[in-house]
Amino acid sequence: MVEAKCCFKLLYAIVVLLVLHISSPCIGCSERDRQALLALKQGLVGDDGDLLFSWGREAQNKDCCQWDGVYCNNETGHVVKLDLGGMYLRGKISPKLIHLQHLEYLDLSFNDFNGSKIPDFIGSLSNLIYLSLSEANFGGQIPNQLGNLTHLQYLDLSFNEDFDSENFFHAKNLNWLPNLSSLKHLDLTSTNLSDVVGWLEAVNMLPKLTNLILQGCNLPPPIISSVSIMNSSNSLVHVDLSLNNLNSSIFQWLSGTHTNLVYLDLSRTISEVPQFLHLLET
Ligand SMILES: *[C@@H]1O[C@H](CO)[C@@H](O)[C@H](O)[C@H]1NC(C)=O
Ligand SMILES: *[C@@H]1O[C@H](CO)[C@@H](O)[C@H](O)[C@H]1NC(C)=O
Ligand SMILES: *[C@@H]1O[C@H](CO)[C@@H](O)[C@H](O)[C@H]1NC(C)=O
Ligand SMILES: *[C@@H]1O[C@H](CO)[C@@H](O)[C@H](O)[C@H]1NC(C)=O
Ligand SMILES: *[C@@H]1O[C@H](CO)[C@@H](O)[C@H](O)[C@H]1NC(C)=O
Ligand SMILES: *[C@@H]1O[C@H](CO)[C@@H](O)[C@H](O)[C@H]1NC(C)=O
Ligand SMILES: *[C@@H]1O[C@H](CO)[C@@H](O)[C@H](O)[C@H]1NC(C)=O
Repeated sequence: MVEAKCCFKLLYAIVVLLVLHISSPCIGCSERDRQALLALKQGLVGDDGDLLFSWGREAQNKDCCQWDGVYCNNETGHVVKLDLGGMYLRGKISPKLIHLQHLEYLDLSFNDFNGSKIPDFIGSLSNLIYLSLSEANFGGQIPNQLGNLTHLQYLDLSFNEDFDSENFFHAKNLNWLPNLSSLKHLDLTSTNLSDVVGWLEAVNMLPKLTNLILQGCNLPPPIISSVSIMNSSNSLVHVDLSLNNLNSSIFQWLSGTHTNLVYLDLSRTISEVPQFLHLLET
């Protein structure tokens, strides 16, 4: 009798353990990813003290999949999404970020990186599909290493305007852009592209691009070759080239294409005086 009771208890314990194991909703984050996030936190501060307070070392905070802005694949425990947008963080982005090798989505928009360059190592996050560094106060030159992010579908680098310094956000060329052959959404608003003579050729080589937003980029007039007309992207739906320095050659490009175009903004972008007015002046 005593033996049977004991056996029953043991069986009960085993069943409870099994049930607990099976119903466990999340396997918890991988240790490597946790360490990478802690290193990232160490470089950053918020305006109101510690905005990343849920990112802890304590035992009860060990599972980084539960931290604010962190999302894991619930089968592997790898961090796949990091949403730190709008947290008004300042400081330095730790290079350990690239240990998050399964990251697909990264949003660092609306923070303040004080005119520093976008780090080159961002090109090692080769699984990224979504990258937003909008209004994050980055400065200097866009790194060519972005050309490594060949799975990227969404890229937003808009409104990084550091008015107080000489260190304006710019690109010398867009040679890295054609590598992003999956890109659907590109927003470089307020990036100084005045030196990028071949911007239209680069854009033309993105076969899936639907949204092109290059507002206030100091874009130079496009050089239209027969190739760039022939190859104009038919996928485009939304085009905003307002507030630039284009000339009417842009219409040649637009006419070559764009059966899907539903939105086009060319306001304050074509500065040339129309021919007949020019004649009246002389
Ligand atoms: C895991 O994630 C998938 C997709 O996000 C979801 O459908 C599923 O319910 C999740 N499973 C658990 C156990 O949370
Ligand atoms: C921001 O950058 C400026 C100019 O480079 C520098 O003088 C200042 O110390 C930086 N501020 C912080 C908080 O790093
Ligand atoms: C490009 O990505 C690969 C991994 O896919 C990485 O080994 C390499 O360092 C990256 N290059 C740059 C310039 O970021
Ligand atoms: C573009 O991708 C190729 C391989 O796909 C790579 O060799 C090249 O370095 C990349 N270019 C840039 C600018 O990243
Ligand atoms: C843009 O860059 C060009 C040359 O690179 C420079 O002459 C011009 O002043 C810059 N414009 C702005 C608004 O920063
Ligand atoms: C035309 O666009 C395709 C991608 O859609 C690209 O592979 C090709 O190199 C482009 N040709 C020229 C001459 O730019
Ligand atoms: C527009 O500017 C480009 C580059 O300077 C030039 O090749 C083209 O002829 C200009 N188009 C018109 C209509 O003036």
